[in-house]
Amino acid sequence: MPSLNAQAKHPVTITLNGRTRTGHASPRMLLSDFLRHELGVHGTKVGCEHGVCGACTIRLDGVAARACLTLAVQADGRRVDTVEGLAPEGRMTALQDAFNRHHALQCGFCTAGILMSLSDYLERVPKPTEAELRDMLSGHLCRCTGYAGIVRAVMDVTGQASGNADAEDASSRKEPAHV
Ligand code: FES
Ligand code: FES
Repeated sequence: MPSLNAQAKHPVTITLNGRTRTGHASPRMLLSDFLRHELGVHGTKVGCEHGVCGACTIRLDGVAARACLTLAVQADGRRVDTVEGLAPEGRMTALQDAFNRHHALQCGFCTAGILMSLSDYLERVPKPTEAELRDMLSGHLCRCTGYAGIVRAVMDVTGQASGNADAEDASSRKEPAHV
């Protein structure tokens, strides 16, 4: 039985945000590292590198997935969408605009992963309740926003009023939600 050379690099071709891209990856290279270091696409962030924080979330064949739990070779021949693909012409999506309006990001480290999860989730659940949304967001760690701005942004873009998010945020917010 032939043995695999763990160091050898193999060509990996993906459809990245609608364009064919090819790079080389060893069998153990993570998709997150392949995107950032091999293809030079840095929108996808890396936090915990073991599937907990959600920062590295991308869409693999349309489904939100942790790039740090996916090997680059597993993505060969598949469609990969990253945050860069949301606004290819530099024009932000309605969701990105809402994040901006509602101060849903501060350092922004978690933002790319949350946007990619939401872009999948909102296709399947176009009008989540706040409880459903918070449950979905529990798969992402955000150290900065307390999630209030993120919840407000999603409820806004889905045409719903946000209840608890405003209440929770009111005590800690030091500046108006809209500037
Ligand atoms: S870096 Fe992938 S889940 Fe944290
Ligand atoms: S905006 Fe900083 S971690 Fe979420």
